[in-house]
Amino acid sequence: MAKTILILPGDGIGPEIVAEARKVLEVVNQRFDLNLTLTEGLVGGAAIDATGVPLPDATLDAARQADAILLGAVGGPKWDQLDTAIRPEKGLLGLRSNLELFANLRPAILYPQLAEASSLKPEIVAGLDILIVRELTGGIYFGKPRGIRTLENGEREGYNTYVYRESEIERIGRVAFEAARKRNGKVCSIDKANVLEVTVLWREVMDRLAKDYPDVQLSHMYVDNAAMQLVRAPKQFDVLVTGNMFGDILSDEAAMLTGSIGMLPSASLDRNNKGMYEPCHGSAPDIAGQGVANPLATILSVAMMLRYSVGAEEAASTIEAAVGKVLDQGLRTRDIASTGATVVSTREMGEAVLAAL
Ligand code: IPM
Ligand code: MG
Repeated sequence: MAKTILILPGDGIGPEIVAEARKVLEVVNQRFDLNLTLTEGLVGGAAIDATGVPLPDATLDAARQADAILLGAVGGPKWDQLDTAIRPEKGLLGLRSNLELFANLRPAILYPQLAEASSLKPEIVAGLDILIVRELTGGIYFGKPRGIRTLENGEREGYNTYVYRESEIERIGRVAFEAARKRNGKVCSIDKANVLEVTVLWREVMDRLAKDYPDVQLSHMYVDNAAMQLVRAPKQFDVLVTGNMFGDILSDEAAMLTGSIGMLPSASLDRNNKGMYEPCHGSAPDIAGQGVANPLATILSVAMMLRYSVGAEEAASTIEAAVGKVLDQGLRTRDIASTGATVVSTREMGEAVLAAL
């Protein structure tokens, strides 16, 4: 059956990296007869400039109708002065919450060719393959009340609310346990249960869930320790499951273990595996428009999309193999280049992946 893919390039390096990923998608669409229709829309700062809002109704409607969404990145200094309610990031958060994309999968896999690019010693990261399962539509990102208020003495106070319901914890927990079953059978749940009640509940629910998955080994870790363990001995982890904000932070950290955040794809799924796919990195305004950004995280996001939302496993693994091939050829964008490597542009990297396909 024909499926529709909505492409949202966004801001900063978004349009550059998405252009390369789109070419890859077009080629596999043909090659594997996937029957995908590609459409494009506006989100983030690009949408603010064109329509005044970061998530126009037309985009949200198209996103609701699409079978999957490929997103570049949003945000940039141009829009930083805007009220948080209408900043580019709201476009992304609005898509996540409106589509109930609660399960964010962020695999951190070290391509053996890039062991040198990691800031950690090769023996610490060699063979690294971890999966961060981040809750994406709750927690402190969405909790109410929130805002900045003026106190009686005239001083201003900022406040947010960190909340999780049992049902929200349970559904993300199940995603983690199921994922662990298909991997190495270990889940480490990350919390701050020594201080925060919301994560005391989180821990309780995870323990309860573990009874349904006797074949999976559950452990718990405080987030500060997890941040340390990720750089001390990252290979102790298989699946990490955590809330929205801790997951945001730990996934950036995990990304660097693999050499560059420019290599990390992500999937954000709803309960039916409809998903939005995006690189873990941001819009990188400092290098936007220079043609130096790494398109591989976005290209690998296309692979995840084909696997999870299109059910085209062969097309997905063909893309992943092509990425491996260009790395074997020694091609590197600036972010993953160690001394002496051939540094290529965003476009050249995209073309190389196409050639390898
Ligand atoms: C991410 C980003 C977003 C987040 C921003 C852009 C709102 O950092 O996807 O990790 O915090 O979730
Ligand atoms: Mg982030």
